[in-house]
Amino acid sequence: MEKILVLDFGGQYNQLIARRVREQHVYAEIVPYNRITPDEIRDAGYVGVILTGGPNSVYDPASPHYSAALLELGIPVLGICYGCQLIAWMAGGEICSADSASEYGESRLTAGPGALFHGIPEESVCWMSHTDYIRTVPPGFRVLAHTPNCPCAAMGDDRRRVYGVQFHPEVTHTACGRQLLHNFLYDLCGCRGDWTMDSFAAGAIERYRRELSGKRVLCALSGGVDSTVAAVLLHRAIGEALTCVFVDTGLLRKGEADAVEQVFRGMLGIDLIRVDAADRFLGALRGVSDPEQKRKIIGAEFIRVFEHEARKLGHMHVLVQGTIYPDVIESGLGDAATIKSHHNVGGLPDVIDFDELVEPLRELFKDEVRAVGEELGIPRALVWRQPFPGPGLAVRVMGEITAEKLAIVREADAIFRAELEAAGLDREAGQYFAVLTDTRAVGVMGDARTYGRTVALRAVTTDDFMTADWTRLPWELLAKVSGRITGEVAGVGRVVYDITSKPPATVEWE
Ligand code: XMP
Repeated sequence: MEKILVLDFGGQYNQLIARRVREQHVYAEIVPYNRITPDEIRDAGYVGVILTGGPNSVYDPASPHYSAALLELGIPVLGICYGCQLIAWMAGGEICSADSASEYGESRLTAGPGALFHGIPEESVCWMSHTDYIRTVPPGFRVLAHTPNCPCAAMGDDRRRVYGVQFHPEVTHTACGRQLLHNFLYDLCGCRGDWTMDSFAAGAIERYRRELSGKRVLCALSGGVDSTVAAVLLHRAIGEALTCVFVDTGLLRKGEADAVEQVFRGMLGIDLIRVDAADRFLGALRGVSDPEQKRKIIGAEFIRVFEHEARKLGHMHVLVQGTIYPDVIESGLGDAATIKSHHNVGGLPDVIDFDELVEPLRELFKDEVRAVGEELGIPRALVWRQPFPGPGLAVRVMGEITAEKLAIVREADAIFRAELEAAGLDREAGQYFAVLTDTRAVGVMGDARTYGRTVALRAVTTDDFMTADWTRLPWELLAKVSGRITGEVAGVGRVVYDITSKPPATVEWE
């Protein structure tokens, strides 16, 4: 399979770049710049390399640099933003910093002829975000495009097939971004486009059928899209040799555990063992209010419950988990700070009582997991469901978790979701839920003073969950939800709506 390397210099768009490449049916993987050498790049058989942006200045000795040997491998290279400046620096160009030349936002791009800009209009709009700029292009390079403020918005050396763009082709504001990446992948790297989800699913089924033959396999079901797709994929491969265990942690939404059971047994025809472990999880979480600790405890409990079930079933050789690519990256691959440890990866205990861990979706982005799900015939309504964090309602109850608090957030959440869906707004908001804050507030009911809990509602619009905007829900809807929650959920005195975007906030409160 042909593959592109996204060499990561710490830019916020590194995952987006890889996704944009994969959207064009070419497999891309992200590797931090300090984890791979030019020799390893050559030996791994990459057909092209993309250098990401990053927050640094190339002339700062502490900023990430890379060996100029990369440019001599004979593999096409495309640098984006910082990556472009880095190429200029490596190849002997001159980079300057000038606030007067800095650009942020949309800019007018004027492009000349050349392979990288093939089929792109001479004038278009691009997205810029930089202070440094290239004053002199390195020997062997020529300027391919400019903006009013940036004399070298793109440069290239056709002989070595090394290119750089100061703007961001991966963001949708850049009108020619898609075409430019297409030109790089297909015309310059010679890709054929063999990365499709039907070939992924067929290949994975075939491989697991071979590799797991004769083995007994246990699948950890959380009820979410990822583990559902992983389970169905494995079921296709090995059928009855797969045993699915679904743990009801007591941290799922209202009615969710029953729904999961019905879908598996009914629609998908996959048998499952349902374990009611709510008391066990509540016990393990007693007295814990730190979010990261909650995640670790839940991850650890999850595995222990599976181990326990596995022992009852006799020795199981393999454990399947629905870990996906962003879980792997966000759990601290490279230099990027760990923001939240996702429990599938970060919280995995060191000792696992299985011979092998299989994570069939480890290389896939969420939209790819969904495409595989559709490919496997999983109902659309299930595949396109809004995401729900692995640690469940534990990260939606602030502070210590109790059965009473869980009951409150579950009811409030069910009301909010039902009203939002009834209003037909569930497509606009990618994720919407209720949070139980640990703030109490004074209120009045009848003639009596109350001192109830505060529920926060959160709805976000996003297409990748890396960034998100709060959804502008209609006032009438919010009024109705607020009235219903304070009227129907005992113990709640106030309802507030979260109007913070990501960044600076995250989607979840913990
Ligand atoms: P944040 O809060 O990081 O959320 O902006 C981004 C997306 O990830 C989900 N999320 C999690 N999913 N385990 C998961 O499986 C977790 O620990 C976790 N934390 C957040 C969140 O719901 C959103 O879709």
